[in-house]
Amino acid sequence: MKRPRLSLNLALSADGKISSVARRPSGWTSKEDHARLLELRKGADALLVGRGTLEADRMTMKPPGDPWRCVVSRGGGFDPAHPLFHSPGGPVHLLVTEGAVPEIPGATVHTGTLAAFLETLAAAGIGHVHCEGGGELVRALAGLDAIDEIHLTWAGHTLFGGRGAPTLSGVPGDFLPATRLFELTAFEPRPENGECFLSYRRKAQ
Ligand SMILES: NC(=O)c1ccc[n+]([C@@H]2O[C@H](COP(=O)([O-])OP(=O)(O)OC[C@H]3O[C@@H](n4cnc5c(N)ncnc54)[C@H](OP(=O)(O)O)[C@@H]3O)[C@@H](O)[C@H]2O)c1
Repeated sequence: MKRPRLSLNLALSADGKISSVARRPSGWTSKEDHARLLELRKGADALLVGRGTLEADRMTMKPPGDPWRCVVSRGGGFDPAHPLFHSPGGPVHLLVTEGAVPEIPGATVHTGTLAAFLETLAAAGIGHVHCEGGGELVRALAGLDAIDEIHLTWAGHTLFGGRGAPTLSGVPGDFLPATRLFELTAFEPRPENGECFLSYRRKAQ
């Protein structure tokens, strides 16, 4: 599969959760983490999130620059009033894998699989996709073995608990088809806010 380079950025609690419950807003980490989030978006040709994250965090995906703003959904239940569709920024591309194609003025809607969508992005000249979650989408990307870089904020100041609280790869479910291996490229403890910034890249196999 010809696909773009794909990076991830998420914050993890002490127990490896990304949220206390699915679809609760983020914003539980530091100002420095937010600044890093914006920094990591720089240079990406496209941003990518699942519809759960779009809704929970009321994302407009307006970073530095104007990368494509991509959101994936199975059912296609996008709310045309969502701020994403009413804020300036890069072109909005929606992927609907199973449901009816929604009518969202100004947005381009794609159908088909997530794998095919990545190929479509590559064919359109998108070289780098930066994904900001959530866990369900990351799980699918890991299933495709499509992740090249992982950026984490280890936020051990918070313990969420809960079987239903999503981890980086969603709520507990089936094993991945194979273990995915990464090597550390950056390790930046931030004692001032009780967090640690980590970066990994895909390990050559
Ligand atoms: N700590 C962090 O850094 C961080 C980062 C991101 C998000 N979060 C948190 O995580 C929670 C949101 O996560 P979430 O569990 O809702 O996950 P999500 O992946 O953001 O959203 C899940 C939805 O995205 C769509 N989707 C996911 N994978 C898909 C695939 N392979 N193909 C087609 N559609 C797919 C589906 O949308 P439809 O329902 O429309 O079919 C699915 O219901 C929120 O609480 C958010 O704040 C935290």
